[in-house]
Amino acid sequence: MIAMKKGFLITVEGIDGAGKRTLTSFIKKYIESQKLNAIQFEYPDYSSIWGKIIDNYLRNKIEITTNEQFFLYFIDILKDQAKLIQLLNENTCIISDRYFSSTVAFQCAKNFNYQKALSIIEIMDIILPDLTIFIQIPPEIALERKYNQKGFIDRHEKDIELLTNVDCIYEKMMNENVLSKKWIKLDGNQEKGILENITKEIIKEFLINDKIII
Ligand SMILES: Nc1ncnc2c1ncn2[C@@H]1O[C@H](COP(=O)(O)OP(=O)(O)OP(=O)(O)O)[C@@H](O)[C@H]1O
Ligand SMILES: [Mg+2]
Repeated sequence: MIAMKKGFLITVEGIDGAGKRTLTSFIKKYIESQKLNAIQFEYPDYSSIWGKIIDNYLRNKIEITTNEQFFLYFIDILKDQAKLIQLLNENTCIISDRYFSSTVAFQCAKNFNYQKALSIIEIMDIILPDLTIFIQIPPEIALERKYNQKGFIDRHEKDIELLTNVDCIYEKMMNENVLSKKWIKLDGNQEKGILENITKEIIKEFLINDKIII
């Protein structure tokens, strides 16, 4: 028998082009196949006012400092916390393509102080993900995929050195087990079908261990 114990939050992280959206959609479909309610979130949320400023920045239309960028990306995610609480209370499984770890990874790769970033986020009592799947992939491969997908790449995506640093900070957060109850690293440089099978096993085990399927 399948019964929802409660809602939960799974986040998918990794550099640009790692395959987060692809995997997030797959996880949502898999969870729904288990007869559970699922909803997908994606950050930056380009439909929000904060997301629109981020988009202008990424397309080189405006310049903003690293401090401003930190709070901009942060508030874009923070604005949805009440909505997330409501969904969790309604026993919905939330799968988010990027979450607060992205803000830390990107801004600290640009020299925002790491401890300061964690303190700011923690002080706001954010909803902690139950599971974070960190897709690791060499930036060169990720960028090639991104270029093939869009035909252009933005200022973050162009910057191999930045993305290498971003990846290192993800690794650090995972090793320190911060900003998520649990981290799992996935090698993103694998064929989609293989990645999906591994992910299915991860989610299956997560659902069983959390006694969501009984
Ligand atoms: N395992 C894979 N093998 C090959 N190509 C993939 C794989 N996963 C995703 N892709 C392709 O790579 C491109 C980028 O994937 P996706 O949009 O999911 O990445 P993303 O991490 O969400 O990127 P961004 O952070 O820039 O939004 C897409 O064209 C997608 O179809
Ligand atoms: Mg994406």
